[in-house]
Amino acid sequence: MRFANRIAKLPPYLFAEVDRRIAAKRKEGVDVISLGIGDPDLPTPQHVIDALAAGAAKPYTHQYPEYEGLPAFREAVAAWYGQRFGVKLDPETQVVSLIGSKEGIAHFPVAVVDPGDVVLATDPGYPVYHTGTLFSDGETYYVPLRAENDFLPDLGAIPKDVIKRAKLLWICYPNNPTAAVAPRSFFEECVAFGKEHDLIIAHDAAYTEVCFDGYKPLSFLEVDGAMDVGIEFHSLSKTYNMTGWRIGMAVGNTDIIEALGRVKTNIDSGIFRAVQEAGVVALNETPQSWIDERNAIYQERRDLILSALAGMGLNAQTPKASLYVWSPTPAGISAIDFSVRLLDEAGLVITPGVGFGDAGEGYFRISLACPTDRLQEAMERLAAVKT
Ligand SMILES: Cc1ncc(COP(=O)(O)O)c(C=O)c1O
Repeated sequence: MRFANRIAKLPPYLFAEVDRRIAAKRKEGVDVISLGIGDPDLPTPQHVIDALAAGAAKPYTHQYPEYEGLPAFREAVAAWYGQRFGVKLDPETQVVSLIGSKEGIAHFPVAVVDPGDVVLATDPGYPVYHTGTLFSDGETYYVPLRAENDFLPDLGAIPKDVIKRAKLLWICYPNNPTAAVAPRSFFEECVAFGKEHDLIIAHDAAYTEVCFDGYKPLSFLEVDGAMDVGIEFHSLSKTYNMTGWRIGMAVGNTDIIEALGRVKTNIDSGIFRAVQEAGVVALNETPQSWIDERNAIYQERRDLILSALAGMGLNAQTPKASLYVWSPTPAGISAIDFSVRLLDEAGLVITPGVGFGDAGEGYFRISLACPTDRLQEAMERLAAVKT
């Protein structure tokens, strides 16, 4: 059998690998605690579940949905963007529904990238930016995220000849995996960079609603001129604890949204209508107090982790947002060695920083999506590991 060259270049999906390792340990009888993936353990709001059940009972939801997304869903997205960020969107031309933002992120380069074009992505970063580039036979140029730069990419350091070939820049704030947040001035810099070099700025905003200590992340589209060059990927996954439901949205520049929509209408046939109706209820009817209470639980977990890490002499920054703590590994231990040791000696799964790119060496990521009592036990086990 012969397969495409691009399949040979496609790395195994990071968390599929991690799942395999956990399964093997559990088979050996180890009580593994996973702090690996950012998959909310807390429930979806009950009113959203009720809306799905009601929607599933309506025969019209059993047929093909609208390709670009139910008009009511796109209207709810536009209204939510208006109320949350003060961003005005035309639901018909500036919003498209996604089968989770991962799907949209992976397919977006098909609309933008020709063979040999460059896509600028960050290292460390969410692996799907590169996957999508590979599907389009493009080349990824990685811009490092470094602690001394507050984990923001130094756009001025990208070589001119690379920029000339680039069509697209991916950014993600609140960031996965570093948990960094971006000031407005960085988004303004990105708008100017996109305009100067005629490239699209794609902002992955999956974590804007997971935030702490009163901090409120921005939408990229809040910044003047962003609508001229930008698209933002968002999702109900982390916002409403709905990762399994597979519903998200891309919003932004009309031409960019049209291009993504054109790709998608030729690939998928939209999201189950009952899920979209439940998505409307999530966006329209979930009170801010629900999000605040959920975030208070994450914040308590964040503090538990930070205090365990401090006890080990590990100086992790206090995240203002995202589902993660990003910590340096103990001195002299590589990210992979540390993750193997934690699994073997403590039955703990963390994500080695290098899983997100070479610049993640010397770091590991802990997810806040672990029930608090299990997390407490995990931190006790972590503290007992000799470093
Ligand atoms: C940075 C980032 N973007 C996008 C996603 C995709 O989320 P979903 O497809 O559930 O919307 C994730 C999931 O973990 C993520 O970490």
